[in-house]
Amino acid sequence: MSSATTALIPELRTPVADAGTGYVKTGTAVPRVDGRDKVTGAARYAAEISADDLLHGVVVNSTVTRGRIVSFDTSAAMAQPGVVDVITYLNRPKMRSYDLFYKDMTAPAGAPFRPLYDEQIVSNGQPVALVVAGTFEAARHAAALVKVRYEITPHETGLLNYLSRPHKPQGLKAGFTPPPDEKGNAARAWQDADCKIDAQYFSGVEHHNPMELFASTVIRAADGHLTIYDKTQSSQNSRWYVSRVFGLSKAEVTVRNPYVGGAFGAGLRPQYQLPLAVMAAIKLRRSVRVVMTRQQMFTFGHRPETWQRVKLAASRDGVLRSIAHEAVAETSRFEDYVEVVVNWSGQLYACEHIRLAYQLVDLDQFTPMDMRAPGAAHGVHALEVAMDELSYEVGMDPLAFRLKNYAEINPVDGLPYSTKELRACYAQGAERFGWSRRPLAPRSRREGTEWVGWGMATGIWDAMQMFARASAVLHADGRLVVSSAATDIGTGTYTVMATIAAEELGLPLEHVAFQLGDSTLPVAPVEGGSSHVATVGSAVQGACEKLKKNLFKLARQLPDTPFDNARFADVEFAEGRIRLRREHGTGMALVELLKAAEVTRIEEKYLLLPNMLKQRKYTRAVHSAVFCEVRVDEEFGTVRVTRVVSAVAAGRIINTRTAASQVSGAVVWGISQALHEETHMDHALGRFMNHNLSEYHVAVNADIHDIDVLFVQEDDRIVSRLGAKGVGEIGIVGVAAAISNAIYHATGKRVRSTPMTPDKVM
Ligand code: MOS
Repeated sequence: MSSATTALIPELRTPVADAGTGYVKTGTAVPRVDGRDKVTGAARYAAEISADDLLHGVVVNSTVTRGRIVSFDTSAAMAQPGVVDVITYLNRPKMRSYDLFYKDMTAPAGAPFRPLYDEQIVSNGQPVALVVAGTFEAARHAAALVKVRYEITPHETGLLNYLSRPHKPQGLKAGFTPPPDEKGNAARAWQDADCKIDAQYFSGVEHHNPMELFASTVIRAADGHLTIYDKTQSSQNSRWYVSRVFGLSKAEVTVRNPYVGGAFGAGLRPQYQLPLAVMAAIKLRRSVRVVMTRQQMFTFGHRPETWQRVKLAASRDGVLRSIAHEAVAETSRFEDYVEVVVNWSGQLYACEHIRLAYQLVDLDQFTPMDMRAPGAAHGVHALEVAMDELSYEVGMDPLAFRLKNYAEINPVDGLPYSTKELRACYAQGAERFGWSRRPLAPRSRREGTEWVGWGMATGIWDAMQMFARASAVLHADGRLVVSSAATDIGTGTYTVMATIAAEELGLPLEHVAFQLGDSTLPVAPVEGGSSHVATVGSAVQGACEKLKKNLFKLARQLPDTPFDNARFADVEFAEGRIRLRREHGTGMALVELLKAAEVTRIEEKYLLLPNMLKQRKYTRAVHSAVFCEVRVDEEFGTVRVTRVVSAVAAGRIINTRTAASQVSGAVVWGISQALHEETHMDHALGRFMNHNLSEYHVAVNADIHDIDVLFVQEDDRIVSRLGAKGVGEIGIVGVAAAISNAIYHATGKRVRSTPMTPDKVM
């Protein structure tokens, strides 16, 4: 990128900390720099950006599940006042025809869905037309008047209906590792063991429901350049996709996402409103916005239904003898969506015999999609409920049973962990919760009409680092602008990155702007996998360190320099100054230094590449221990989760406030997964029926009681130069299992499918 792009881009309105914030340190609780903009509405999201003569597009969705479009009748829609066009596969602008060009950067193996490409219908709710009008209301009304005739082909939906025809996933996807080969002989060890369980688990479909709806506003300049405000977890991924699909050069398309109102994985891939809005902008040579309705948010991607079977065996003294974990998940007919479901079952506990398997079933539906802690949210759930079941067979406390089988090295490949403070999570979490006062027997505590139970589970998530670039520019007035095409989906990226840079250069936080959310900025990965801090944070720190070295060089070249005989290691950057460590307080202000050196700006760039040679020698993971209390109503089977303690080991915590928010938010979702969330399909229609927030239940305030998050000390310089691993997804892993285990402890009834609704708990 040219240096011009790393100046502040005014349209992004990059948030900066309030004046007077002063010097802050990583590892402390720094309030969000974008907090005020978000709560006052100053932060603008993809659907809130406007343009002169903006047109509005509303999507028409297929009402059938499989087949082909025979004909459209758009006459009634076109006759409505304000309607400009009804775009279908018959009259859309030219698109490239090979799947290769359609792929976004995070596409799984297969041929991606191509919106308005041809007459084929591959899933219920697939977009079949875009009605474009002068107002959203006119477009929405007209969309209801579009008539589509279909030729219907019988469809197949429902994982449990087709469990008998699983196949191995084909192809690779970033972040996916197939299960390892069998270690030892799990079946024989299970057969020979004294204590054993064999249980099946099922988790229903969940849909992402971020507050912000998916939306794209395409602003077309007179020369045809497109500036697209898109709801996405990567502006560069959307830019790449639009360029490839429509054959536009990088210079012809800019994608921006300075604010994203939650995404949880749904923004890892471009959603169909993006190509549809671009199609209309190209065809009509106008600026166009397409916003999905909440119902349409249920027409693309979801956490896949997953069936699992876990067989565990132990000797009478509680030593694990065998782990067998198999999973079958659903995918679409056109892509093999894969996630890591079973692998962690070979990583958490010491065991000689481990067999892991993972397969897919193709169904007539949209391809599933990553959702917060994809794979782990249900894979580790099954393992951790199974571990609880086995602990009762052995007659041990569930925590003591886990500690007895604690893995000091990765049991599958023998690699050491880069860091693993899981023991501290167990100890500190148990202490905070008061676990030692737990009676062993289920159904032993009753208060009023409620049975009270305590349960726990382990959480694990990969500690990933990807590659990224960052640039850092120090201006003559002492202000620092750090840039990378990162994303802040509500996680705190603005704040964390600015804090890392401010601390590195010893500047007050309000003098540092971290600019993200624009595809022309230095390359950054999708904000996914809880890897942004380890990745972008390390690039930011690297760029700032190079800047410091440069400033030091400048300082040494000044006449009468106090740094004459100093080496870089002898100086520190603090309180806006460069100074000798020894003489604490002498030195010079960075502003004076730039002035004396007659420099108006100084810029450095850094490319962060993970040190794979070093990292590959270790198993890299984030861990947690989750403890919870449930109260189950004896007559209604309703469950209240009255207390949760989540103890997390995630390397150095850069911002204890935003990190704790990540974990407590994820615990809320864990409670929601455990008790509420499930999208029900009518298999006769092949359609999700409860596609709205009144019938798709998410946890609300009344469902949430005490949540206590604690971070144990950990510092991992193998995962990142910052010592940080990553926080976010780990917060949900194990929560539903701890709740399931607590329900068993409360009632003596084991519930093996999620959500654990009253009908199952009764
Ligand atoms: Mo997350 S499911 O990696 O956005």
